[in-house]
Formats: sequence, C-alpha cells, structure tokens
Amino acid sequence: MSLSHPRILLQFDSDEHASVFDAVVAVDSGVEHLLQYASVEPVDVEGLVHGAMFTRGPDQLKNTAIFVGGSDVGHGERIAECIKETFFGPVKVSVMLDSNGSNTTAAAAVLCARRHLELSQAKALVPGGTGPVGRRVARLLLAQGAQVVITSRDARRAQSACSEILANVPDQYHQHLSAMGVAGETELRSALDGCNLLVSCGAAGAQLVSGSALQASELKVAIDLNAVAPAGIEGISVMDKAVKRGDRIDYGAIGTGGLKMKIHRESIRTLFTSNDLFLDAEQIFAIGLNLEEATELS
Ligand SMILES: NC(=O)c1ccc[n+]([C@@H]2O[C@H](COP(=O)([O-])OP(=O)(O)OC[C@H]3O[C@@H](n4cnc5c(N)ncnc54)[C@H](OP(=O)(O)O)[C@@H]3O)[C@@H](O)[C@H]2O)c1
Repeated sequence: MSLSHPRILLQFDSDEHASVFDAVVAVDSGVEHLLQYASVEPVDVEGLVHGAMFTRGPDQLKNTAIFVGGSDVGHGERIAECIKETFFGPVKVSVMLDSNGSNTTAAAAVLCARRHLELSQAKALVPGGTGPVGRRVARLLLAQGAQVVITSRDARRAQSACSEILANVPDQYHQHLSAMGVAGETELRSALDGCNLLVSCGAAGAQLVSGSALQASELKVAIDLNAVAPAGIEGISVMDKAVKRGDRIDYGAIGTGGLKMKIHRESIRTLFTSNDLFLDAEQIFAIGLNLEEATELS
C-alpha cells in the first residue's frame, strides 16, 4: 500500500487573524492542507516547528513547508530566524518569508525595471528606502550591479538602513549604495539628478515625488509601489503597467501586481521541491527571474 503525503503548508502569521490573502494564494498554488497559526510569537516557534520536522520521513519532509507572513515585517524576520534556529542538520522543512508581501513586491518591482533597463547600468533612487519594501528593493538592485541611493525624511534613518541592506549584498557592490535625507523639492531634484530608475517605496498614502521633479528628471523607468491615494509619485496611476510617457516607462502598484502574484504562487510551489529551501528576497527574486526568462523565451 502506498502512503500519500499531501502538501501541507503551515502559515505562521504575526497578526490576530492569519492573512486570508496568503491563504488563498497558498491554496491556488497547490497546497493541499493549510494549517494556520495567528499571533505567532518567537516563543511559540520551536514547538510548532518540531511538529513539522518530526512527523515525516526524510524523503517526505519536502511535502511540509512553512510560510511566514503578517503585517509586521520585523516580527516576521524574527520568527524566520527562530525557525532556522530550531532546525538541525538535514531535519528541516522549506520556509518562505513574505511578511506584508515585502519580498514578492520588491522582487516584482525590480523585475519590472529589468524589462526596460540593464540593471548593472542603472542608477536608482529609492525613496522610502528605510521601509521593509524599500530595503529589499535596494538590496536586490545592488546585487544586480546597480548604483542605488535610498532616501528618507531623516538622513540618519537613511544612513542606518544602509548597514542592514548591505548585510545581504555581496561585498563588491557595497560602494554602490548611498543614503540621503530628503526634506523638500530641492533635495529631491538633487537626489534624482543622473538617475535613470525610480522605485518609490513610501508608506501607503504618502506622496514622496512631485510631478514637477518627475518632469525635470531624466528617468527611463519610474515605479510607484504605493496603491493608496495620493500616488507616491505624482502623475503615476496605480494601474500603470509599462505606460510610456515621453522617454519614460511608468508602473503603478497594481501594474506590478500581476507579476507579484505570479512570483508568490511560483514561490509556494517551489517550497515543495525540496526540504531545505529558505526563500527570502534574493531567492524569491531568482524564482521571478526564472519566470521572466521563461516568458522571454516563449
Ligand atoms: N502591492 C503590494 O502587494 C504591496 C505589498 C507591500 C507593500 N506595498 C506598498 O509598498 C510601499 C512600501 O511598503 P513598506 O511596508 O516598506 O512601507 P512603510 O514601512 O509603511 O513605509 C516606508 C517608508 O515611507 C516613509 N514614510 C512613512 N510615512 C511617511 C509620510 N507620511 N510621508 C513621507 N514618507 C513617509 C518612511 O520612511 P522615513 O520615515 O525614513 O522617511 C518609511 O520607512 C507602501 O506604499 C505599501 O503600501 C504594496
């Protein structure tokens, strides 16, 4: 008699109610049993992970995986670290970290830019680069060889985000990152000077880039990840998807959303190919890159 080992995903969420969005994507990606845990704290992780690690034999561990989500990205990162510390040797299951959609959103934004620019030649401005999405956009762009400037309303906050970004970037690109405080139009225009890529990662509903600064720039690609009015980049609509305006290509948050969803689903499917994957920004970006390259070839 052959035993079946259905694909089980444990959803660890930091919020009071585990994300319905993440649950639906999991089911749509072929997860057969979804076990949801809400308000997960670091102290809870060991017991939950032991239940995943010790129940199936080595050949079947790949059919159990963990998804870390919830609106608090820092909390998700701590949960993910606790998961890694609980594993020992080959006794582990694959894990995907995508709290608040941060990794899939950042990967999709950088891959949208890559459709129009050689990233190793890009000089990118990342307003809101202190937030979880902005920090991931910066580290993915740096790893592709781009020059990156992150901005914040506070120069010290921008500077302190740099060390965390660089912890995930190969040494050879560390000189490619700089940080600026931007408090007004003059500083914004100066930050945009010489940039060909803008990925605006400000908080929902915060406008970080004025239409006049956008018009005065020499940008080739502008991407706004804020989906809540007013637009993060004045003049870019949430629905923009490779919209050509003069010499520039524009994307809004929903315009990058189709690719984000594809990357999310493919990442969940990838979890069940092995028991030792840890899908963070770089690995999720690589999954998205494979999808893009497959589309380019077809
Ligand atoms: N499409 C999707 O599925 C999806 C998924 C995730 C996120 N997003 C969007 O991506 C964007 C970035 O996400 P996130 O979670 O990284 O954002 P976040 O942490 O809420 O904010 C990012 C940065 O915006 C700046 N900021 C906050 N309030 C501001 C204000 N009133 N005016 C100007 N700047 C302000 C802050 O930087 P300083 O304090 O350093 O200036 C903050 O670090 C958001 O718009 C979010 O809604 C979209």
